[in-house]
Amino acid sequence: MPLVTMNEILPAARRAGKAIGAFNAANYETAVAVIQAAEAEKSPVILQVYSRMFGNGKAEALGGLLIRLAQKCSQPVALHLDHGENLEQVRNALDWGYNSIMLDGSRLPYADNVAATAAAVRLAHAAGASAEGEIGHVAMGDATALTEVESACQFAAETGVDALAISIGTAHGYYQTEPKLDLERCRQIGERLPDLPLVLHGGTGTPMADVQKAIACGITKINVATEFQHCFLKNVQAGLDALDGKFSPIDKFMDGPIAACVEHLRGLIRAFALR
Ligand code: 13P
Repeated sequence: MPLVTMNEILPAARRAGKAIGAFNAANYETAVAVIQAAEAEKSPVILQVYSRMFGNGKAEALGGLLIRLAQKCSQPVALHLDHGENLEQVRNALDWGYNSIMLDGSRLPYADNVAATAAAVRLAHAAGASAEGEIGHVAMGDATALTEVESACQFAAETGVDALAISIGTAHGYYQTEPKLDLERCRQIGERLPDLPLVLHGGTGTPMADVQKAIACGITKINVATEFQHCFLKNVQAGLDALDGKFSPIDKFMDGPIAACVEHLRGLIRAFALR
């Protein structure tokens, strides 16, 4: 089916008290694993691409492939720029056929974050795309800034984002120690913004019981990158070890890692849908 924006899948998921997985693909194999997992679970999915790939030509080339895969999928798929760094990346994403974007101004002073995000929202909406912003900051190797309830409400109203990433104690990448989610903060934000899908970044390694409690508080999009990509790499490694130096054509070799990723993603999709 044609690509859908986040607006065609997230508000309904929020009303149903469920969340949708947003998985970072970086090549054909990880992308097709996301699509096959969506097919197998009969679930919408968000296929997203790291912002750094928008600065080196990879996201443009990959975009054509992702659009083709999404169009052949029987389930709704949104194609999303993850952590867009500036308006140029947003414009490029929209030009290249991505129909959903994030402008991440979460490290900027509040007013600058509002200005950049609102401009990105205008660009996205003019192109018929959906837009995500972030208030507070989910650590990316730096310090976390938990989202203040009032700023979340003000930011949502001032930017017009379609989905709002909030910081409630998760972090990007693997954790050194188990995270403690501030579910009360999440509950308050969800209560004040009852119709706005909230986004949880840093899905990797976050205890699923806490993730599911956060879904009950309004988290509707859950980003998972590290553990998914690591699943792919570990299975490539296992396949190479099994070959023990012998040759295998790449397309055949990759069937194993793809299948392992599909299984991993299916488990996440089911857990996010509370199934
Ligand atoms: P993880 O790499 O921790 O899963 O985080 C992914 C993410 O939030 C992408 O935006």
